[in-house]
Amino acid sequence: MADAAPTIAEPTPEATGTGRGATILIVEDDGAMRMMLREALEDDGYTVEAVGGGRAGIERVKQGGVDLVVSDVKMPDLDGLDMLREIKAVTPSPHVITITAFGSIDTAIRAVKLGAFDYITKPFDVDRLILSVQKALDERALRTELARLRSEVQRSYRWGNIIGKSAVMQEMFSLIRRLSGSSASVLVTGASGTGKELVAKSLHFNSTRRERPFVAINCAAIPDTLLESELFGYKRGAFTDARTDRAGIFVEADGGTIFLDEIAELSPALQAKLLRVLQEGEIRPLGAPRSQKVDVRVVAATNKNLEENLASGAFRQDLFYRLNVINIHLPALRDRADDILPLAEHFLSQSAARAGKEVRALHETAKKALLGYGWPGNVRELENVIERAVALVEGPLVRVDDLPPLAPVARERRPVEGRDGDAEADPFAAALARGLTLAELERDYIMKVLAAEGGNKTRAAQRLGLDRKTLYRKLEEYAASGGEPAPGGGENES
Ligand SMILES: Nc1ncnc2c1ncn2[C@@H]1O[C@H](COP(=O)(O)OP(=O)(O)OP(=O)(O)O)[C@@H](O)[C@H]1O
Ligand SMILES: [Mg+2]
Repeated sequence: MADAAPTIAEPTPEATGTGRGATILIVEDDGAMRMMLREALEDDGYTVEAVGGGRAGIERVKQGGVDLVVSDVKMPDLDGLDMLREIKAVTPSPHVITITAFGSIDTAIRAVKLGAFDYITKPFDVDRLILSVQKALDERALRTELARLRSEVQRSYRWGNIIGKSAVMQEMFSLIRRLSGSSASVLVTGASGTGKELVAKSLHFNSTRRERPFVAINCAAIPDTLLESELFGYKRGAFTDARTDRAGIFVEADGGTIFLDEIAELSPALQAKLLRVLQEGEIRPLGAPRSQKVDVRVVAATNKNLEENLASGAFRQDLFYRLNVINIHLPALRDRADDILPLAEHFLSQSAARAGKEVRALHETAKKALLGYGWPGNVRELENVIERAVALVEGPLVRVDDLPPLAPVARERRPVEGRDGDAEADPFAAALARGLTLAELERDYIMKVLAAEGGNKTRAAQRLGLDRKTLYRKLEEYAASGGEPAPGGGENES
């Protein structure tokens, strides 16, 4: 019989073809043998497809939905072992059972080395084949189940796009959940890069206000007079440049949430105005004859210790109480080490997807380095480290060599603020002692990074967060000023 056209079944959407009903692909050039295999497996309740050569086999596997391949070794178009190699490169790859000629034990060993699940020698006993098929499918079912459980566990480490395995983060998830119907003000505190803005957004998008605007404003980034009109708006003619009415963000965000970032920087005058808005639930744009009601939930954030500002009088106590109805404190990343790897893995898959690279996992050496480091820049620093590693890595695994040097810290010894002589806690102590200017400090740091990157300016620029042109310009300036010669030559500019 001429080669029967392969029956292409619908690929099963979830790769769950495991027990009876699993799809088995037979790759066999000999028509009679192919038929015999097909009948034996169909009799046993499997969905069977068959093709007559190695090339067609690979093509079929790439379409997906094949749970197991049963394949001959000697085929005219493509050797079964070469096919095996290519099938194993497909992800997820099905198990392969190889049928070898009697006495060719070498071939059988090579097949297993290339990743075959089992081999059967011709002439073979059908029961022996069925047994091997069953074993292969059982093993695969187990693996699928394991992967499912693993992703389930990981899913519970996240709340929307916030990752957190540590007890504090888990508690925070449940707090955000409980607050979904509340309009109480929230003060989010924590060091830079701990995720305050992310939490603010999460509070909004998990609340009943989610259909209304979330408007963020950074109180430190805008001069006072401008900030006032940004917040509360103005009427035409309120001041010289006010040619039209302008709605402030309290009006813009009506029904939604306002995120007041770096709240500690708010001037005393604006503190007083904000307090009134929070107390009365109404705002009065500059130059407006009367106030108007607004319904806005306020989430504020700061990386300062506001209680200290209270003591010094820099921040109003009454406003503090209004803002701090609920406090969410994000501990430094080093104090919730359980979050480091889940976060790193999250950033890894994000960066890999963005870069279109097949980077799949962290090597044990990299995990160890990530866990041992102190993360002064918290989650933001971790995100940057992983993004950089993904940009540089070749191959599916991120190893310690793909990370920038991460000096291990002794976990027990927390850096104490203001203590000097501890270079790890205070990288500026030496600079201070030497009386460096900012430009000199910058230059020292640039040269250090350049050296750490083996003179590669592209990578140094990346790590410094500069564009290459800026780095070149600076290096030229340094060279011209007669100090360090701009290192160059022989590097790989990509
Ligand atoms: N738990 C987390 N899960 C996922 N991503 C996080 C988490 N925490 C922080 N990030 C990410 O880290 C980066 C820094 O977070 P964010 O901007 O919220 O920090 P921040 O506390 O507001 O920092 P700063 O005080 O410097 O403004 C962001 O890209 C954010 O998405
Ligand atoms: Mg922020």
